[in-house]
Amino acid sequence: MQPPPLSTIRRFQRRLLAWYAEHGRDLPWRRTRHPYRVLVSEIMLQQTQVDRVVPKYREFLRHFPTIEKLAAAPVDAVRRLWYPLGYNIRPIRLHAIACESVARYAGRLPDREEALRQMPGIGRYTAGAILSFAYGQDTAVLDTNVRRVLGRVFLGPRRLARVRGQRIFWDLAAALVPRGRGYDFNQALMDFGATWCTPRKPRCAPCPMKRFCATYRVA
Ligand code: ADE
Repeated sequence: MQPPPLSTIRRFQRRLLAWYAEHGRDLPWRRTRHPYRVLVSEIMLQQTQVDRVVPKYREFLRHFPTIEKLAAAPVDAVRRLWYPLGYNIRPIRLHAIACESVARYAGRLPDREEALRQMPGIGRYTAGAILSFAYGQDTAVLDTNVRRVLGRVFLGPRRLARVRGQRIFWDLAAALVPRGRGYDFNQALMDFGATWCTPRKPRCAPCPMKRFCATYRVA
């Protein structure tokens, strides 16, 4: 697919950042850029809703405040604390990431995509989130919420029905990240998908994207 026209990209960027300044959520992992804390939040958020993650994120960091403390803890203790969040392979992977960071990188989470993606449970999404949210890199992120937003605004129902695979969404997400603003832009995109451009009842009437949204146009 051709990338969207530059003027549309700029418009989307400006409007999304303005929307975020007004409607963005104050979440505990947005008050830190610490890579370990960002890692914990993103692994928790992989399969669990924000509301359920917030208290567990705080509790987890009280028990395991540093990557070294997590690596040194018995994996069973990590699993027990995690248990109510579900999808319980995640604490085992998180513990393994901590052990590997301590053993190979002196306790520092890598800041390169290749090294991150060799770690257990870190795919392209989580690597992008860590690079963007912890290291300030302008990498793309794509979760189900972001995919829905991009599909609606830039593709529209007819093209969306023909899409196979993720490639087109990753290319769009990458084309949209504004230089130097990846952190806010990506957090904004997630909030916009989670709270505004929702699956069943999107808030189209007050939506700042409706003038150029490929789904609003045809709806
Ligand atoms: N889901 C995944 N990562 C997130 C983040 N940083 N903020 C809100 N929701 C998310």
